[in-house]
Amino acid sequence: MTKILSLCSLLVLLTCLTSLSQVKKEKYRPVYHYTPPKNWVNDPNGMVYLDGEYHLFYQYNPFGTKWGHMSWGHAVSKDLKTWKTLPLALKEFDNADGSQTMIFSGCAVVDEMNTSGLFAKGFTKGMVAMFTSHVTKDKKDIAQHQSLAYSSDKGRTWKYYAKNPVLDIGSKNFRDPNVFWYAPKNKWIVSVVVALEHKVQFYESKNLKDWKLLSEFGKMGDTSSIWECPSLQKVLTSDGLEKWVLIISSGHRQPKYVGMQYFVGDFDGTTFTPQKQKEVLYVDEGKDFYAAVPFYNRPKSQPNPIIMGWVNNWAYANEVPTETWRGGFSVPRKLSLFQEDGMYQLKQTPIISENIFTEKLTLQPNAKINAQTIILKDNLYRLVLDIKLLTSKGFALNLLKNGDEKSVLSYDVATETLSFDRTKSGKIDFSERFKSIESMKIKPKNGHLKLDIFVDKSIVEIYANDGEKVLTDIVFPTKGKGSVEIIWK
Ligand code: FRU
Repeated sequence: MTKILSLCSLLVLLTCLTSLSQVKKEKYRPVYHYTPPKNWVNDPNGMVYLDGEYHLFYQYNPFGTKWGHMSWGHAVSKDLKTWKTLPLALKEFDNADGSQTMIFSGCAVVDEMNTSGLFAKGFTKGMVAMFTSHVTKDKKDIAQHQSLAYSSDKGRTWKYYAKNPVLDIGSKNFRDPNVFWYAPKNKWIVSVVVALEHKVQFYESKNLKDWKLLSEFGKMGDTSSIWECPSLQKVLTSDGLEKWVLIISSGHRQPKYVGMQYFVGDFDGTTFTPQKQKEVLYVDEGKDFYAAVPFYNRPKSQPNPIIMGWVNNWAYANEVPTETWRGGFSVPRKLSLFQEDGMYQLKQTPIISENIFTEKLTLQPNAKINAQTIILKDNLYRLVLDIKLLTSKGFALNLLKNGDEKSVLSYDVATETLSFDRTKSGKIDFSERFKSIESMKIKPKNGHLKLDIFVDKSIVEIYANDGEKVLTDIVFPTKGKGSVEIIWK
């Protein structure tokens, strides 16, 4: 009897220790940003809406916490605010000739008119995924071409199309197809990159299977890194005009980091013509927003696109200290366009649950922030600030501050520069490339600077002046609950 009892208490103790270490390991896990229950993720893929469900597929390694075995994971949401993880959607596979195919990034569309002929006659809810089939043999990269998979049960189960690939130019760096329906000419259009040449190609098709080259766009803007994950989408301007925005994952303002840039212009069904740009336009000024693409087939009553990105940077993505899982996604962002300096620019509005603790404050020089309620929220909150600058020279807002740890968001009035400094944010030594300060120009509006700051354990998203500039960074504070303070210059 005593033996049984002591065995029981040992078991209880072991369970407690495991769950304690789990909690310790999970301290960086975001709450309102989607992360997989375990293992590695990178790009969002196949984002599409069907019958009240938003689908997020994503680059996923089912076998570990580092990049490899790329397959598509799957999660669904009714409101873009909370997500439910579903079983693996598209798995890597072996080929008869001894090579392997990984399922790289791509998109999904709803083939309502069964243009592909892949579904039963009259079926209106077929999903077709177009992805890059990345082929390796003896650990060497052999080919990248575009292939199809299709699902008749809302993305739960998939079949690979028997005559894959459907688009092949004989390149090893041809990837990330993103398809949309171009209604004026009743055809599908895909954007796909020739990555090393900094080139986007546009192809057209009537059936998703046979593709014809329409035009090319490239060697413009930021070419400091290869180009990946293109998408072309229609966006309405604040004055009611229709423009097209080409988003490309490419380089960053700071050399040797990846980031995202965009071009605003016109599209006539064949060619994309960009507006004159005085400078490179970046989607996000932080280090951790990449591979964002739009959700397709959304209700027509909300015409402007919604994008979502991978919150990480290839410079250190395989090293981030989250242990049980690696990588996650931004909150979804609705896009619109506004005009400044004679150019159309993107404005991003976050889609976020009303249940997140929100502190709204109007501040002017020398005001203090009472941080008590925020500390209690344990690095999980939204802080909405309307800052009247008056005669101030600027300020430093210390976020996630505990002892000597802090993530500092500062503004310099003279140079109209907003900076985020994570050099003292907590754990930074897992990669030499993680420590960083990023800066962006943002003009006050009628003497006010507006900041909408989302803190979710290890993700910070900052929307300045109603999303006219956005900065996303990951941070790993080691000391738990952090406070907030403002120091005026
Ligand atoms: C972008 C990317 C894509 C590729 C995928 C592989 O982050 O490099 O170009 O399809 O990730 O996981």
